[in-house]
Amino acid sequence: MAEFTLPKNSKVHKGRHFSAPSGSKRVRTFKVYRWSPDDTENPRTDTYEVDLDKCGPMVLDALIKIKNEIDPSLTFRRSCREGICGSCAMNIDGTNTLACTRAIEDCKKDEVPVYPLPHMPVVKDLVPDLTHFYAQYASIQPWIRTQSAAPPDRERLQSKEDRAKLDGLYECILCACCTTSCPSYWWNGERYLGPAVLLQAYRWIIDSRDEDTGARLDDLEDPFKLYRCHTIMNCARTCPKGLNPAKAIGQIKQLMLARRG
Ligand code: SF4
Ligand code: SF4
Ligand code: FES
Repeated sequence: MAEFTLPKNSKVHKGRHFSAPSGSKRVRTFKVYRWSPDDTENPRTDTYEVDLDKCGPMVLDALIKIKNEIDPSLTFRRSCREGICGSCAMNIDGTNTLACTRAIEDCKKDEVPVYPLPHMPVVKDLVPDLTHFYAQYASIQPWIRTQSAAPPDRERLQSKEDRAKLDGLYECILCACCTTSCPSYWWNGERYLGPAVLLQAYRWIIDSRDEDTGARLDDLEDPFKLYRCHTIMNCARTCPKGLNPAKAIGQIKQLMLARRG
């Protein structure tokens, strides 16, 4: 039987342990991925015990407490703290989600594992490099495209029914939880656009004010950009906003079929 050995620097070592202050009564342990580009060390997991009686309820509260009071070198992104900016997306307790909306008490494992979003290059610790993801988003031209040369003399109106078609799409915060949970994206991410960007593509395709539907569909008619989705549904399962990118991808495929006649 063939045996595979991981490259030396891909092995994640056991790191440091930070105990909770003595006297802490409700302690929860977090096992956090650490890696820095500033040295030649392998990645490691550091273990932090947090006193929940002196911490907010969310995983992000625990990370902020660790950074402020235990280990200032821990690096992660966050901004809004209420599930709107998407910047605190990471893999917590085995699932891609937002640290600011994931309650500590809902985590199942005794030692809660906290890792960066999977299968992306890491900038440092819990910060993934989303450069390629954002470039793919820019490639679908996420704005209203029109044919008319002159700008209109008033806003572009939309019926209530047409506006309702954007429900389940406009709420996407581009956190990349879905895209980084998609096996097809793991293997073909250079060319497959992935669930988040395809959901966004559909958001503009069905916007009644957009006048470039045909060109948008032409652009997706490609063996890799769209058709690598195999309806595995990890994306819908993991989306912290309860959206269903797989459904949006299916609707794009239906539009493709319809126009072929
Ligand atoms: S569809 Fe959901 S998981 Fe994917 S980027 Fe948008 S909000 Fe995040
Ligand atoms: S349904 Fe498609 S986009 Fe969603 S995880 Fe599966 S392959 Fe990826
Ligand atoms: S900090 Fe903005 S979504 Fe979590």
